[in-house]
Amino acid sequence: MAQKSRMLLIPGPITLPERVLKAMAKPIINHRGEEFHVLYEKVEEGLKNVFKTENNVYIISGSGTAGVDMVFQNFVYENEKVLIPDFGEFTGRIVENALKVGAKPVIVRSEWGSIPSLRSMVDAVENNNVESIFIVHNETSTGVTFRMMEEVANIARKRGILVFVDTVSDLGVEPFYTDKLGVDVCVTASQKGLGGPPGLSFVSVSGKALEKGLKNPRRRSFYLDVEKIHRFHLKRETPFTPAVPLIYGMAEALEILKEEGYEERIRRHSENARMIYEFLESENIEVFPRDKEYWSTAIIVFKNTGLNADSIIKRLYEEYGILIARGMGKLRNETTRIGNVGYEGRAEMEYFLDSFRKVLKDTGRQP
Ligand SMILES: Cc1ncc(COP(=O)(O)O)c(C=O)c1O
Repeated sequence: MAQKSRMLLIPGPITLPERVLKAMAKPIINHRGEEFHVLYEKVEEGLKNVFKTENNVYIISGSGTAGVDMVFQNFVYENEKVLIPDFGEFTGRIVENALKVGAKPVIVRSEWGSIPSLRSMVDAVENNNVESIFIVHNETSTGVTFRMMEEVANIARKRGILVFVDTVSDLGVEPFYTDKLGVDVCVTASQKGLGGPPGLSFVSVSGKALEKGLKNPRRRSFYLDVEKIHRFHLKRETPFTPAVPLIYGMAEALEILKEEGYEERIRRHSENARMIYEFLESENIEVFPRDKEYWSTAIIVFKNTGLNADSIIKRLYEEYGILIARGMGKLRNETTRIGNVGYEGRAEMEYFLDSFRKVLKDTGRQP
């Protein structure tokens, strides 16, 4: 499906199929007219199928960070105690977001490459009068997936605590059932597992969260104000001029997802990840996260120990047209990241791993 000549295996954006590119070149339409209403509805329907939710899913013209911002600008009150498990670059950004709106983050930290224990989170909830929990489901910097959603959602349900989740880097890659879990607000973005172009974010909001947002006495964002977003959503519009070409691209991407089937997409990504992890093992390259049970399907992070990472990345791109990514944040030099969030299937994986093998041989190993 993806072109071999330019294969983006970074943690998003992804290489887009012709169909999505063509859809983005359609003539621009009036975003207050019937044609747009139909387009909006189609995208929302497609999104609900991936979010696995009946909640409203808002379309935001702004990358994933705008979606996360929307959560804090509306659903987290000033002085609210919000529990944040902090185990990487993106969870760290969540803490910053909380501080920006004057909330009181209750932080449970664990070293990068792991996730905090359930016990530490339960203790933090019990001892701090926590009112909400914000989870980053897939930590793109470390390649760790937070696979304790059910346990955390159960704790939250028992105590009437709202649950917010950032699934920016793995919705559509790793199974995630918003309604079954009882997640109040789920944020994702267009350019990774959903198969679309970069530049949009999507936010699903439960009735309970919406009510809380509407009652928030200090909603400070003009652009991301939930009252306006919701009011226009009911008309299948956005309060301000949306990125129409991106929304066209997204509609096509969701159509492709529907044709492939949700289950099949999840299976394909899981199979790709298995091939990559097995390859790393066969080459004696160490995966960064400690526990296998948290190894991400979407973002595979490995240690650079003994490898000439810069040269590997450069040669893979220049000689084979495949781009993988450097580490992120404080892991920039220590690790390398492979994104498994695009349209690649078995043939593309075989081409990638075969190329990787040749590059490893050429660049050699340091003792
Ligand atoms: C887990 C996570 N959250 C948030 C973001 C921010 O998304 P964006 O770069 O689309 O603003 C990213 C981007 O990679 C991410 O991986």
